[in-house]
Amino acid sequence: MLEFKQNLPFADADGCYELLDGNRIPAIGFGTWRVKDREDGAAVCAEAIRAGYRHFDTAYLYGSEESVGDAIRASGIDRSEFFVTTKVWKDDLSAEGARLELETSLSRLGMDYVDLLLIHWPRRDSEDPEWRERLTETWNAFQQFKREGLVKSIGVANFLPHHFEALDGEVPVVNQIEVHPGYLQEEAVRYCRERGILVEAWAPLGQNRLMTNPVVESIADKHHVSPAQVCLRFSLELGLLPLPKSANPDRMRQNRELFGFSLDEDDRAELMGLPEKTGWSGEHPDDAIPMPDLSKL
Ligand SMILES: NC(=O)c1ccc[n+]([C@@H]2O[C@H](COP(=O)([O-])OP(=O)(O)OC[C@H]3O[C@@H](n4cnc5c(N)ncnc54)[C@H](OP(=O)(O)O)[C@@H]3O)[C@@H](O)[C@H]2O)c1
Repeated sequence: MLEFKQNLPFADADGCYELLDGNRIPAIGFGTWRVKDREDGAAVCAEAIRAGYRHFDTAYLYGSEESVGDAIRASGIDRSEFFVTTKVWKDDLSAEGARLELETSLSRLGMDYVDLLLIHWPRRDSEDPEWRERLTETWNAFQQFKREGLVKSIGVANFLPHHFEALDGEVPVVNQIEVHPGYLQEEAVRYCRERGILVEAWAPLGQNRLMTNPVVESIADKHHVSPAQVCLRFSLELGLLPLPKSANPDRMRQNRELFGFSLDEDDRAELMGLPEKTGWSGEHPDDAIPMPDLSKL
């Protein structure tokens, strides 16, 4: 079973983790998947900045990069105070493809660097026999982007232990994977912990599916907090970096208010004991994930 941290390394939502390369990353990130096409993206990101978020998680795929860049510029706060992550999608896993995506992402963001660049997904689909070669080539390109100053830190997403074997050179500083009560990915989390790779938790609220889970709700009632706060505190106590997304100003603020309570041993045991795949997205890194039709999101 995964061990919990008895003491968090920060006392409020403005705290940071230190990455393997020495760079610092705000311990709660703002997720922007589905922000642009369902809401007014720049307004949502501007509200997130007002709520205190300085860490934005976007991707070439999401269609939210312009919104993030616009909101940061409009905030009047210096670019250096923000931490911006973007990702190279699985269809462009080559040196040339990654460079083209990164250039496009920087142009959409209106920035000359990103703080963190991730390989978004380790393989095109379950049939792709050349996924290892593609990862090796892309990862070498990422190290070159870093030398060129286009990115400050480099990492991966949705990597299981066997995917890391394809990488040469630098150790990724981050692995962004789906983790929440009911979907713990213990093997991948343990693999990363042992190597100092920070695990970022995507879908930390189970994409809303955990908000009405009776176990989560009863722990929330006990501590007079919301189900979302229980899930996010669970992430932090596991030493993970949660990336909640909300388009609602009250919920954005609530998702940073995680430092006035802590989970006790019973809570942790109950959350760890939820049936496996509770709240799971259904996405597995070795399976085919079709390119979403962004117009329908
Ligand atoms: N690397 C990857 O492959 C990958 C995959 C998926 C996601 N991600 C990243 O991870 C981020 C988070 O994941 P996600 O957006 O899929 O799911 P999530 O953050 O687990 O859940 C978002 C959902 O929860 C609702 N919500 C947020 N705060 C709430 C609260 N306090 N109380 C009740 N409901 C609340 C949101 O609704 P409202 O907006 O109405 O509040 C939204 O429907 C993404 O935005 C993206 O940046 C990465």
